[in-house]
Amino acid sequence: MAIFPVRRMRRRRRNSATREILAESHLTRHNLVQPLFVCDGEGIDRPIDSLAGQFHHSTDRIGERALKVEEAGVPAVLLFGVPDQKDARGSGSIDPMGVIPRAIREIKQRAPDLLIIADVCLCEFTDHGHCGIVIDSEDGSYQVDNDATLEVLAKQSTVFAQAGCDIVAPSAMADGQVQAIRTALDGAGHDEVMILSYAAKYASAFYGPFREAAGSTPAGGDRLGYQMDPRNSREALQEVALDLEEGADMVMVKPGLPYLDIVSKIHDSFDVPVATYHVSGEWAQLHAAADRGWIDLDQAYMESLHSFRRAGASFIITYGAERAARQLGARG
Ligand code: PBG
Repeated sequence: MAIFPVRRMRRRRRNSATREILAESHLTRHNLVQPLFVCDGEGIDRPIDSLAGQFHHSTDRIGERALKVEEAGVPAVLLFGVPDQKDARGSGSIDPMGVIPRAIREIKQRAPDLLIIADVCLCEFTDHGHCGIVIDSEDGSYQVDNDATLEVLAKQSTVFAQAGCDIVAPSAMADGQVQAIRTALDGAGHDEVMILSYAAKYASAFYGPFREAAGSTPAGGDRLGYQMDPRNSREALQEVALDLEEGADMVMVKPGLPYLDIVSKIHDSFDVPVATYHVSGEWAQLHAAADRGWIDLDQAYMESLHSFRRAGASFIITYGAERAARQLGARG
């Protein structure tokens, strides 16, 4: 690769328009997805302590909020349910009148053009906080029963699809979950519904604030048995290959900034859209530092979002999506 033309460029004048046409990647509001938390109850728009600027919205209020997201120009939302009732089998997650199906119907009514992605997992619906059905062993190890979990995830997906969900996003990391969900969706006549797989989901400390928001901190044990080891990257490519084989339409890497190399590798190795999830702990870090006056929140946030685009992410799931979209405004 010749380097001297680059040296010559240094002497040329660059104004902001020049920077625009030379930019190697661009971020627009179309690249952003806003996560939303839906709870039971009525008339609730309750700020979440651990997640700056985020709320628990009851199902009767979620449509209003979704409309604001749509007006800001964000094309999609990712829904998480925070039900009042939880049990060992996460049965609230497959109830057609449950918190997520009700929210989906409400949003489709108020903001019909907004794309709805729904997280498919059990941790928000189980009293033990694990992502699947557990074999509640005496020693407190909370082993997940993979096959029993697959059944619930498949059912959950069809219930969400029935309510009008556009994309399901399985995040339980159960073996074979994408195939089980695809089969169930097709069998129920929902072959139009896409699957966004959390293919590379790491066992991360950065999920802390989310678990507080969703009340999904494991009661015992940890998620190391089903989430990926942060030291591995080739394993992520293998997970992606498997999920694509099983029928995933797009894949996700999570968390975001600490795993940019994974986004980049997937982007270079596969011809499918790769998404990234800038998770709760990353959002909290930005706010904690900004609150102390140590960094500029919006600048640092935008820089983070740009880095995802540079690495090759098609879209970014991020708590500041609405805020960023308003800033990008007419420019993007
Ligand atoms: C699991 C799920 C989690 C997050 C998204 N989906 C929690 C976990 O794996 O413990 C975390 C997202 C975040 O930290 O922002 N349903």
